[in-house]
Amino acid sequence: MPAARYKRLVDAFAARIRAGELRSGTQLPTHRQLAAREGVAVVTASRVYAELEAMGLVSSEQGRGTFVRDQTVPPGHGIDQHALGADTVDLNFNYPTLPGQADLLRRALRELAGSGDLEALLRYQPHGGRERDRAAVATHLLNRGLDTTPDRIALVDGAQHGLTVTALAALQPGDVVAADAITYPGFTVIADALRLELAPIPTTSTGPDVDALARLCRHRPVRAVYAMPTLHNPLGYVMDEDVRQQVIAVARRYGLLIIEDASYAYLAHRPPPPLAATAPDITVYVSGFSKNVATGLRVGYVVAPQTRMPAIERAIRATTWNTPAVTTAVVTRWLEDGTVDRLEADKRADAERRQAIAQNILTPLRQQAYPSSYFTWLPLPDDARADRIAAALARQRISVSTAEPFAITEHVPQAIRLALGSTDLSTLAGALTTVRRAIDDDRHR
Ligand SMILES: Cc1ncc(COP(=O)(O)O)c(C=O)c1O
Repeated sequence: MPAARYKRLVDAFAARIRAGELRSGTQLPTHRQLAAREGVAVVTASRVYAELEAMGLVSSEQGRGTFVRDQTVPPGHGIDQHALGADTVDLNFNYPTLPGQADLLRRALRELAGSGDLEALLRYQPHGGRERDRAAVATHLLNRGLDTTPDRIALVDGAQHGLTVTALAALQPGDVVAADAITYPGFTVIADALRLELAPIPTTSTGPDVDALARLCRHRPVRAVYAMPTLHNPLGYVMDEDVRQQVIAVARRYGLLIIEDASYAYLAHRPPPPLAATAPDITVYVSGFSKNVATGLRVGYVVAPQTRMPAIERAIRATTWNTPAVTTAVVTRWLEDGTVDRLEADKRADAERRQAIAQNILTPLRQQAYPSSYFTWLPLPDDARADRIAAALARQRISVSTAEPFAITEHVPQAIRLALGSTDLSTLAGALTTVRRAIDDDRHR
C-alpha cells in the first residue's frame, strides 16, 4: 500500500480526535473492520492504530479493542514529572515531607558550615562514597534486618540511580528481566533506555506468582528479576517469608540476579528479612533517603555482592562520579544522630493516618493497600475508564495516575493509583472525596 494512503488514514483519525469529533472513550473499529472499510490489509490497519497509539491519541486494550484516549492526560503522565499549577492537588507523585523538615535542613546546613569537614566537600568523592558515609548506611541497615559491611555499599543519587547503575553493571542490551506485571514505572524507563526486555509475571495480592516466574525461566533466558518484596509500589503487598524463599529458590535454580528495590520498606511493620539478607550472593539491594527523608536530597545506596562492586562503582563513575557531597554529608549526620530513625517513625505514623483517611473515604470502592503506606491502588469496575476519570479529576485540579505507567503488559488494567504523601493533610480528605465522586460519576455515564 502506498505510504500516502496509510498516512492519510492516520491523519484523518488524528484530526477527528483532536477536533473532539471522536470523543474520549469512543471505541474504534476492530483492525479487521477498519481494513474492510478502507480496503486495506489488516497489517496496515494495525499499523495505523500503532501509530495513533504512539502519538498518544488511542489506547488498545487486549481483548477489548482500541479506544480514543482522553487528551487531557498527556502520554507519560505518571512517568514524567510535569509541572503542576499551585492550585493542583498532587495525588500522582509521592514526596512525603513532614512539617518542620525545612528547619531541620536549615540547622543541619548551619552545623555543616561550622564543621571542619567543609573543604573536603569541595572535591570529588570516592565513587561509592566516603568510608564514613558507607559505614553510617551499614549501621542504618541493621534496622532493616540487613547485616552488611561498608565495602559492599555504594552511595548513589537516589534509588532510581541505584537501579540504573545496577542494570548498567549487571545487564546487557537484549537481556530479559522478569518483573511484576504491574511495577514501578522508573524501572520501565531504565529498561527502555538500556534496551532490556521486561517479561511480566502475573501478580497476586501476596506477591508475584512464583510458579509463573519459574515457567518463564524455563522458556526464556531470564537474567534477573526485579522485585519489591517489602512494600510493593503500587500494589502494597509485603511478601511473606515463604514467598521470599520461593523467589530465592527460583533465582538460584535459574541463575538470576535479584534486584531488590526497598524504597518504601521503612513503612512496613516488622517485615521478614530482605532477600539480600537471605541471599546476599545473588541480590543487589537498592534503597535511599527520598521517601523516608526528602526526595530533593538525591541520596541513596546499593548493597551488592562483593564481586559486583567494581562494576557498580564503574557505572557510578560513568553516570555521576559521586553523589552530591553536601547533601550526602547532611544525610550522614542525620543517620548518625538518629534523625533518620525519628523521621521514619514519624512518617510511618503519618502514612498510617493518611491511609486510614483513604480507606474511610474511598469505601466501598475496591482498594489494595498496605495499612501504613503512602499509596493506594484502586482497581476499577470494568465499565469505568481510568483515563476518563484522571482527565475529569485534572479538570478539577487533582492529579492522579492511571495504571498505564505501571503496566508492563499489553493489557493495561483499569485502575487508579493515588499517592497520599504529597498533599497537606488538611486537603487530603476533600481531594479523596472528589476522587470517589469522579469514579462514581464515570460509572453512571
Ligand atoms: C519503588 C521505587 N523505587 C525507586 C524510586 C526512586 O526513588 P529515588 O527518589 O530514591 O530515586 C521510587 C520513587 O518513587 C519508587 O517508588
